Amino acid sequence: MPEVFLAAQDLQKSFNGNKAVAGVSFTIGKGDIFGLLGPNGAGKTTTIRILSTVLEADSGDVTVGGYSARKNPAEVRKLIGVCPQDLALYEDLSALDNLIFFGRMEGLNGKDAKTQAMANLALMGLTERAKGKISKFSGGMKRRVNLAIALMGSPKLLVLDEPTVGIDPQSRNNIFETIYGLRDKGMTVLYTTHYMEEADRICDRVAIMDGGKIVAMDTPHGLRAKIGDPDKVTLEDVFLKMTGRSMRD
Ligand SMILES: Nc1ncnc2c1ncn2[C@@H]1O[C@H](COP(=O)(O)OP(=O)(O)OP(=O)(O)O)[C@@H](O)[C@H]1O
Ligand SMILES: [Mg+2]
Repeated sequence: MPEVFLAAQDLQKSFNGNKAVAGVSFTIGKGDIFGLLGPNGAGKTTTIRILSTVLEADSGDVTVGGYSARKNPAEVRKLIGVCPQDLALYEDLSALDNLIFFGRMEGLNGKDAKTQAMANLALMGLTERAKGKISKFSGGMKRRVNLAIALMGSPKLLVLDEPTVGIDPQSRNNIFETIYGLRDKGMTVLYTTHYMEEADRICDRVAIMDGGKIVAMDTPHGLRAKIGDPDKVTLEDVFLKMTGRSMRD
């Protein structure tokens, strides 16, 4: 077992009396790709917002690199790079200027921001489009820029909230390759998706969420083995078994 990099302990969060996150606990090992899976409204994004200190949990806490999100949110924020579910880009700026802007927000000086921006655009296969305006980019290219932004400031934990929704195969492959490459260099990754086959392919461990709770957590193979022949059943089947519903309902 790798050393624990993130530990979430009994997180709870309600909105207007409705529990969006209802007692979520999990750990992510350093250098692991951890998948948080679940259908719409499961509580994935709310969980991510809590651990990236955008939201404060009603109860429970999360530690990242040993720092508590409650007591030391600034330290936690330094360690995490978040690629949000909704694109957060300045359409009228170039890809490069978007990255530099967010790098400056992370506290980088102008020179370092530019150096990191160019390196991250190269990683995402966007060097040739660095000076292109975002408004002219395809959806997949915008997703890749969003991921490049998450890498500004050299985070130790990369959090990706549904990074492959509605994108072309080239961008999807580029995103997977990037994640593997970063993991090989020691990055810890939290990956959120409702595509079960995607999680099965790339994640070391996954937690399946439904109705604000984790209903199953293991390696993809371990989860499949719990319900049948691991070479024949899918994570989709695991979800059905655990919740009595299909992911697509
Ligand atoms: N700011 C908010 N105010 C009120 N309700 C919210 C808020 N954010 C989330 N919710 C509710 O909390 C529940 C969990 O939402 P959340 O966005 O965390 O789910 P999700 O798993 O990320 O879903 P999706 O796959 O659609 O992104 C949903 O019922 C949602 O409507
Ligand atoms: Mg979400």
